[in-house]
Amino acid sequence: MSGSAITPWVIGNWKMNPVQAEAQQLVSEFKTLLEQQAIDAAQCHLGVAPVAIALGSVQEQLKTAVRPVYTVAQDVSRIAGLGAYTGEVSAELLKDSQIGFVLVGHSERREIFAENVQILNAKIQNALAAGLTVIYCVGESLQQRESGQAEQVVLQQICDIAAVVEAEQWQNIVIAYEPIWAIGTGKTASPEDAQAMHAKIREGLTQLTSYGPQMAILYGGSVKPENAVELAACPDINGALVGGASLNAASFHQIAQAFANTQ
Ligand code: 13P
Repeated sequence: MSGSAITPWVIGNWKMNPVQAEAQQLVSEFKTLLEQQAIDAAQCHLGVAPVAIALGSVQEQLKTAVRPVYTVAQDVSRIAGLGAYTGEVSAELLKDSQIGFVLVGHSERREIFAENVQILNAKIQNALAAGLTVIYCVGESLQQRESGQAEQVVLQQICDIAAVVEAEQWQNIVIAYEPIWAIGTGKTASPEDAQAMHAKIREGLTQLTSYGPQMAILYGGSVKPENAVELAACPDINGALVGGASLNAASFHQIAQAFANTQ
């Protein structure tokens, strides 16, 4: 092993895409690519986050992949358990369906769906209590970056969750740094800027938990095959949360390969 001691994660966030037939095709193509060009499970964790109604079918299809590819939920209810909560899916229901991972704190949820710290923390608390691994997303806006507040904003977002994460639960958290201005814009943070923020996040995590040095910190925001190798080479970038490029099996596979090759 020549690279970082942290096994990288490459997760595809499909957001509100695609239709069922295309999702099936995408998974099928990705499985074929994994058969043709293996990515060792010990060198990279892989996951895809489909829309809620496709979680079961994607998970079923992935059971016959040559290696584990996790099925990740894009969201979880802030309400725990079961009950009269129309439209909601709780952490316990995800766990019951063998879904072990969930995204929380994505900027689209924070901005478009007005999810504040209280809501996000309730989701995190429930997910961790149910035994899920949380991929917790953080990131600053363009205006915050331009006014020199990026670091402060991101570190605050990290500190926000400390109120609900118990000492041993930090092992079940993966951080995804996604500068908002880089999401879906084609603009990526330079590897230097991304590494600098990841190093700050690592410092912040290490102050909060003894697991800090070994926690995976993923980068997200216009990750594509063309920039994955450079990003993967940064010591504190331990994987990618991929939006648009994860809807293309070949691109997603190439990105995963770039991160696996660092090991
Ligand atoms: P893009 O890769 O499309 O920029 O999306 C990033 C993202 O938001 C992943 O969660």
